[in-house]
Amino acid sequence: MAHSIAVIGGDGIGSEVLAEALKVVDATGVQLETKYFELGAEHYLATGEVLDDSTLAELRGFDAILLGAVGPAIGSTEIPPGTLERGLLLKLRFSLDLYINRRPFRSPDTNPSYVGKYVDMVVIRENTEGAYGGEGGFLRKGTPYEVATQGSINTRFGVERTIRYAFSLAMSRPRRHLTLVHKTNVLTFSGDLWQRTFDEVAAEFPEVAVAYNHVDAACIYMVEAPERYDVIVTDNLFGDIITDLAGAVSGGIGLAASGNLNPERTSPSLFEPVHGAAHDIVGTGKANPSAAIRSAAMMLDFLGEGDAAQKIFKALESFPEAGLKTNEIGNYYAERI
Ligand code: IPM
Ligand code: MN
Repeated sequence: MAHSIAVIGGDGIGSEVLAEALKVVDATGVQLETKYFELGAEHYLATGEVLDDSTLAELRGFDAILLGAVGPAIGSTEIPPGTLERGLLLKLRFSLDLYINRRPFRSPDTNPSYVGKYVDMVVIRENTEGAYGGEGGFLRKGTPYEVATQGSINTRFGVERTIRYAFSLAMSRPRRHLTLVHKTNVLTFSGDLWQRTFDEVAAEFPEVAVAYNHVDAACIYMVEAPERYDVIVTDNLFGDIITDLAGAVSGGIGLAASGNLNPERTSPSLFEPVHGAAHDIVGTGKANPSAAIRSAAMMLDFLGEGDAAQKIFKALESFPEAGLKTNEIGNYYAERI
């Protein structure tokens, strides 16, 4: 039976890269029944709505959502920062309770990362709390005495379910290693909650070896010794930042895929490249569809189409030998080989 997929191209290169991803899925023989949703900057400017309630309700009925990219062009002043990001992507993550953001990074066997090392890690980013929870506000806005606060929400429930997911994933991988990344030496309240919860859940997974790194140190290790990492679990904002870094060191952000997951499957999960809308290269043919293709493969895997997913992952790893070059990988190979 065909899987029903909501396709949201979004902004910039979003629909270009999704078009390529859907061709690849088609080549595996897996049947998708797709419906396209025109959401993003243009839709917002035309209607004043980012994602209305009836569209959100409709999206709940699909097996999964495939999303390209979200965000207005840099320097555009028509759309205030955060309008599309909060109104579309974060609204979907929060409303559908997509509390796991799973981001795998793997440099192809024949292609050590930019830093000359093999990278094979998965970052599990908590996806519905932390600094993204939207706690905060202004006092005396626009006056010389104005105050802006921006909180970070960390619930025992939210932290624990994320950490438990990360331990289960680590159990399923050969190395069985999990690193907690946080900043417990400064964020002494949320850090304490994360560390205690981590230690408690660790007791249920005695076969998993554990480590802890402060987020700043993790940035060094990710560049100098990425082989330290197997699975990483971290909060929403740290996860956002370190996954851009992980993308860069493992072959380029154009390869980095993600799944925003509801592991209990009470709502459709959402799959998207980690990269943004890259308005500057729209229509130039330079956008690397690898991240979108990999995200579509993660979607197939989540939908129970493991064989098709594996075929796609393998094909993506072999394209350098096949002489295929993407814009940034092409430059990378030219520099290094
Ligand atoms: C990501 C993106 C989003 C985030 C933006 C577009 C809101 O950077 O998926 O990593 O910050 O989570
Ligand atoms: Mn990001």
